[in-house]
Amino acid sequence: KALFAAGLLALSHSALAITVGFSQVGSESGWRTAFSEDMKAEAQKRGIDLKFSDGQQKQENQIRAVRGFIAQGVDAIIIAPVVETGWTPVLREAKRAHIPVIILDRNIKASNNLYVTRIASNFEEEGEKVGNWLMNKTGGKCNIVELQGTVGATAAIDRAKGFREAIAKYPGAKIIRSQTADFTRAKGKEVMESFLKAEDPKQICALFSHNDEMALGAIQAIKEAGLKPGKDLLVVSVDGVPDYFKAMADGDANITVELNPHLGAPAYDVVEKVLKGEGKDIPKLISTTGDVFGQDTAAAEYAKRRQQ
Ligand code: AHR
Repeated sequence: KALFAAGLLALSHSALAITVGFSQVGSESGWRTAFSEDMKAEAQKRGIDLKFSDGQQKQENQIRAVRGFIAQGVDAIIIAPVVETGWTPVLREAKRAHIPVIILDRNIKASNNLYVTRIASNFEEEGEKVGNWLMNKTGGKCNIVELQGTVGATAAIDRAKGFREAIAKYPGAKIIRSQTADFTRAKGKEVMESFLKAEDPKQICALFSHNDEMALGAIQAIKEAGLKPGKDLLVVSVDGVPDYFKAMADGDANITVELNPHLGAPAYDVVEKVLKGEGKDIPKLISTTGDVFGQDTAAAEYAKRRQQ
């Protein structure tokens, strides 16, 4: 009898559990890994059955995953898109199947009636904050090399834009080299090596990296070229991952703008609201912001963050 009752209880639990399909970009950076872990931990906390798919930085993998979620009849779909374009057909399929879609982090170019909301940081503002800090530090005189993120990704497009806007009023500030390194540490090192070969390293005043992961690779390249990152060549970036706080504490990097990886709670709050029929007032954009962190607080921040 007791066994039967327990079985019934388990059945009713699983019947009630929300199933969410989450298509993640990949695992290209420490920030991305922290974000994936947060999504999984928060789902577990709430008893959400999370179907996680790693897109390995390829949109075709993400689209295949979303189609799979639709076929399985999940209750909601969350997409962290790798690039902005190309989402309309699959979002229409989700809409036809009456499955709500939530966008996290990077943006998409699609009609906003195809998704409930987007929860994200303002990437343009991040680029601007980095640019402002650098102009203050150098008095507006600086030859800059730039490591761009993935081509077509909002985090790359908007950080590049915001940074350029911030330095535009300083005629002595120039971006002398700019190339994508796909947000990864290995490519960050490779592209930085090519910058250091193509330019006289003494003429480079700063590296602007679109994320910490590429900056960490570049720091390695700068050291191998016999230069001191953070001193001979300033290093400025975005994300705020523990390894980069360590680099700042060691004097190898100068600043970063924090990007919040804890998107699980706000994302599942939206899912739960929508499934209860309370989604009407949810705004189309829910914004998060991050502060600028420098060397002064880096050691303490690193101690705090490495345990999280
Ligand atoms: O879309 C956000 C960016 O993607 C992060 O800055 C980067 O680390 C990640 O790969």
